[in-house]
Amino acid sequence: MDTPEKKKVIFSAIQPSGTITLGNYLGALRNWVKLQDDYNCIFAVADLHAITVRQEPKAFKQNILNAYALLLACGIDTEKSLFFIQSHVHTHAELAWVLNCYTQFGELSRMTQFKDKSAKHADNVNAGLFAYPSLMAADILLYKSDMVPVGADQKQHLELSRNIAERFNGIYGNTFTVPEPYISTVGARVMSLQDPSKKMSKSDENVNSWVAVLDKPDTIMKKFKRAVTDSEAVVKVGEGKDGINNLIGIMSAVTGKTADEIAVEFEGKGYGDFKTAVAEAVIEEVKPIQARFEEYINNKDYLVEQYRKSAEIAEKISQRTLDKVMKKIGFIAK
Ligand code: TYM
Repeated sequence: MDTPEKKKVIFSAIQPSGTITLGNYLGALRNWVKLQDDYNCIFAVADLHAITVRQEPKAFKQNILNAYALLLACGIDTEKSLFFIQSHVHTHAELAWVLNCYTQFGELSRMTQFKDKSAKHADNVNAGLFAYPSLMAADILLYKSDMVPVGADQKQHLELSRNIAERFNGIYGNTFTVPEPYISTVGARVMSLQDPSKKMSKSDENVNSWVAVLDKPDTIMKKFKRAVTDSEAVVKVGEGKDGINNLIGIMSAVTGKTADEIAVEFEGKGYGDFKTAVAEAVIEEVKPIQARFEEYINNKDYLVEQYRKSAEIAEKISQRTLDKVMKKIGFIAK
């Protein structure tokens, strides 16, 4: 890796909550892979974030490893980027505590993800779920990240990270780099296949609403064939056509064709043909990823070596920021 001074720094992370969806892939992961040559990229499996909802220990452990292996399979390259498991780098939880004390109750209460998740998990509205965005801010700010590539649903959390950074800098002088969101124009908001007014989410109970990167080809085909559309039967972006707009968005993200090119290609064809074509394009896209995933997940030693190597470097970089923060606040050095 080049020294951080030379290239801009990118940070992003993903929760290891079981299924990694086509939404995660098109909205985030694919962009991370592309950014690796031009930026100093730092990526993490955000396992600390994941315990804001209850996890079954054995499945959780496997999901963390699966997420790590899948991201390598997508093309995250530990020769170019740092890629570690969040809980392995202690500075994240420590800075998160500090930032909690510079984040207002009102700000956290306004987070739409908090409102959604607390409605969904009404029996477990824990303090971690509430303070989740300060941990995200810690992840980002520890590395002086310039840019954070995410899907559109994370924009509000990023704005809060910026506010926290600016507030801290305002009190103590320039400490944190204020990060910019990096939201791609295609694939930033992949919607549910069953209710296209909602984002595609792995936590949706209806398994037909999402496609997983590791779904088998016939499952992918079946899910796209069942996708909710409209009665117009015209493959073209339009108002009141959320289902088709979403499928066109997915097709466009996967093939690189514009919505207009897709409309011309499918002129006079029915939704059945179009859905099949979208499914086929997605199947082609994920096929090599699935093959590589099998290789990585069966090579545990390699995974351990990679995540340890990155965590060690990440700890050194982030410790410098944490030390600076503690000093500015007035803590006594050890
Ligand atoms: P998570 O794990 O929910 O999602 C990982 C990434 O996938 C994007 N994404 C989507 N993009 C388009 N369409 C969708 N339907 C869709 N669903 C998810 C998300 O925007 C995200 O970029 N809190 C974060 C993880 C995190 C993080 C961070 C991100 C922890 N620390 C620091 C950035 C910086 C999360 O839960 O993402």
